[in-house]
Amino acid sequence: MAKQLQAIRGMNDILPAESALWQGLESTVREVLAAYGYHEIRLPLLEKTELFARSIGEVTDIVEKEMYTFADRNGESLTLRPEGTAGCVRACIEHGLLHNQTQRLWYAGPMFRYEKPQKGRYRQFHQVGAEAYGMNGPDIDAELICLSARLWQRLGLREVTLQLNSLGSSAARASYRERLVTYLNLRHDELDEDSRRRLHTNPLRILDSKNPALRAVIAEAPSLLDHLDPESRAHFEELKILLDDAGIAYEINPRLVRGLDYYCKTVFEWVTDTLGAQGTICAGGRYDGLIEELGGQAVPGVGFAMGLERLVAMLAAAGYAGTDPTPQVYLIAVGDAAQRCGLALAERLRDQLPVLRLRMHCGGGGFKAQFRRADHSGAQFALILGEDEAKTGTVSVKPLREAQSEQQVLTQDQVPTYLRAALEETP
Ligand code: HAM
Repeated sequence: MAKQLQAIRGMNDILPAESALWQGLESTVREVLAAYGYHEIRLPLLEKTELFARSIGEVTDIVEKEMYTFADRNGESLTLRPEGTAGCVRACIEHGLLHNQTQRLWYAGPMFRYEKPQKGRYRQFHQVGAEAYGMNGPDIDAELICLSARLWQRLGLREVTLQLNSLGSSAARASYRERLVTYLNLRHDELDEDSRRRLHTNPLRILDSKNPALRAVIAEAPSLLDHLDPESRAHFEELKILLDDAGIAYEINPRLVRGLDYYCKTVFEWVTDTLGAQGTICAGGRYDGLIEELGGQAVPGVGFAMGLERLVAMLAAAGYAGTDPTPQVYLIAVGDAAQRCGLALAERLRDQLPVLRLRMHCGGGGFKAQFRRADHSGAQFALILGEDEAKTGTVSVKPLREAQSEQQVLTQDQVPTYLRAALEETP
């Protein structure tokens, strides 16, 4: 036998049995985004490496060690997108979408990070992201948070908490950074290797360390929230009021710093205890300087992205069924003449009942074998075409899910009306 090939580690197939749940999630997400007036933007999976280095930051985990980067045939360095914000900003600048106008956009699709695969953390994973441009005030931050909260509510996800922080302006963050480095240097002996390295590259990320040995050092560190510039402080206070008015509960987490460098002011994460270590289902914040840094005008931006694998895991645990792909009707056709008119009948029914889920038996076989397939398919009704029906232009109909069901003969023209009424009655 030929050698079997396997998928790449951390890159998962989403099998038919799981896709109902994915589709249900995706259609609810789409509905909620449309309800808030967001438009879809579709972006390439590949971008120039420089885009991510310049936006996410040279000394972040993502850029330093997690990107799938390779040389194109012409030698240019390309990267499979590890996230969507950078590409979205690039596209908006390139197509002039930010000139004197606001934008509310969303995107969905696979992202790629060379991380150590574990439950909830994959090398190819899927995000839906929302980004809003051209709005300075905290109202749009609040809107994005309300949108995500509404999504959890629509999906029936209750065990989620909103964590909120402000990173302040880049100037305020720079002066806080100095203060933090001074403090951490005083406690240098207590730092782990990773933190010692970060002390010189990205000291704020030390606050995000999951190493229990650093808990005390982090807890006693100066708080970024105590060093906010007045504008960022006012923005944060207003945001809290807006969220209070909207009835959205939050926890202030002064240690929430995020792993990407482009943020300023508001940052937030929706977290759950139900997924183990990878409990962040959605994360984002404001990135007012990024558009200008990538060559656009000085336009503010704010957004979030949610991890679909993590949401699917929560939904599966909650017994969420998603979009039902089960056929409602199974068409049985036995004999050459019946098979020929079966295909035509199936097409006519699909013309007349566009949302009907009808599966036609293909591949031949006798009544017994075809009925077995019909039963297995989960369909409510079997439409049966044998030699007699084919000759007389009739169809037999049999409900499949009733203990004592009568088979009845209809003319082919009567079938749509029969099915319309019968399917309305079945739950
Ligand atoms: P992020 O925090 O890197 O932010 O990712 C957002 C979400 O994607 C995470 O909260 C998580 O649910 C999911 N995620 C990230 N990495 C993985 C992985 N390896 N496996 C499974 N799920 C994962 C961003 O990507 C920003 N672009 C968000 C944003 C948009 N900020 C402003 N606008």
